[in-house]
Amino acid sequence: MLQIQENVSLKKFNTFGIDANARYFAEISHEDELAELFADPQWLNINRLVLGGGSNMLLVKDFEGLAIRINIRGIEHRISHDDVFVDVGAGEVWNDLVNFCVDRNYAGMENLSLIPGSVGASPIQNIGAYGVELKDVFASCRAFEIATGTFRTFSKEDCKFGYRESVFKTELAGQYIIVSVKFHLSLRPAINLKYGAIEQELINRGITRPSIEDVSKVVSSIRVSKLPDPSTIGNAGSFFKNPVIGEVQFRLLQGQFPDVVNYPAGEGQYKLAAGWLIEQCGWKGKTVGNTGTWKNQALVLVNHGGATGEEVYSLSSQIIDSVYTKFGVMLQREVNIIS
Ligand code: FAD
Ligand code: EPU
Repeated sequence: MLQIQENVSLKKFNTFGIDANARYFAEISHEDELAELFADPQWLNINRLVLGGGSNMLLVKDFEGLAIRINIRGIEHRISHDDVFVDVGAGEVWNDLVNFCVDRNYAGMENLSLIPGSVGASPIQNIGAYGVELKDVFASCRAFEIATGTFRTFSKEDCKFGYRESVFKTELAGQYIIVSVKFHLSLRPAINLKYGAIEQELINRGITRPSIEDVSKVVSSIRVSKLPDPSTIGNAGSFFKNPVIGEVQFRLLQGQFPDVVNYPAGEGQYKLAAGWLIEQCGWKGKTVGNTGTWKNQALVLVNHGGATGEEVYSLSSQIIDSVYTKFGVMLQREVNIIS
């Protein structure tokens, strides 16, 4: 029988370590429990928060609704010639899945090593790192539609993946709960070294013909050197997206700031490094009350201990204002704000 708890602290369920309570809390270990939960109309007419690992959210205050933690487990894998299909419960830990695949030489997700969080959340913002995005290995996902109590399978096209975007954050926001994700991997590794730092680190280690395990290890060590470990310093990774701007705005900006760090982002579009913009405004490594930005990566806002969600949110607003004042570029939050 599904248990609903009341007034549960979410501190251990969010990597920012914000001490906020959920009015109601349910843990789902099997997809059938979702139908059981929503058979009671009380839960249809209340604010809901779906929780995976809580590594991409900021709880600004107590959540006066029902938090639903997804803990559906299971990994099934099938090989067909060089193709590998892996079907994974939404509650599996993302990095455990990466390790499971790397250990078996199932190639495709090694560049996504060490990203925190659950498998079920991975399509929500189309997680990405070091030259690879989830969409590159995604086959489909199965999701529960809350309003109808039915399950639907989403293809890659259905998900409308973009940079840190999917249909689950836009037109279908809040309507579906992902219960499993199917991945398409390969037994023939296509090593992706697009991100210069990986190649350099492989050279430093004297590796000329890298395996996917080598790539996974190198990506993990680069990440550890730049990003704070949420088990010791609360954070949710990049707090903002890297802004994408058009040609005219970019040329004007580059004229004024020749060092502006940028990457081509399709026809006439440029992606700017938000970390650089924030650092140029003097925020890097700065402490403000119990919060601040990380000393090695200005794009990461941190909880130095005891920070409230409001404090972190207020710092993020100050950063947005100062970047806009200096560069005329409006940063958008990547982290989901729960208020
Ligand atoms: P949560 O924070 O629990 O949820 C995130 C959002 O998804 C919420 O809106 C939630 O309601 C919704 N959600 C969660 N599960 C489900 C589900 N089953 N069905 C429907 N909705 C759901 N992200 C990157 O893309 N690349 C990185 O390199 C990266 N590095 C990070 C480094 C650190 C140190 C940290 C702390 C975070 C980083 N992130 C990165 C962000 C984060 O790891 C990802 O966004 C991850 O996918 C979030 O997973 P989660 O299970 O913790 O999601
Ligand atoms: N930079 C600075 N100062 C800083 C930080 C960065 O000048 O404080 C400049 C440097 O020039 C650096 C460049 O920005 O070379 C890029 O920095 P980094 O390689 O750390 O990547 P990022 O663009 O800051 C993005 C993702 C990360 C992902 C990495 C690696 C976004 C919002 N963030 O960060 O994702 O891990 O690339 O691919 O796209 C996340 O989403 O939570 C996340 C951590």
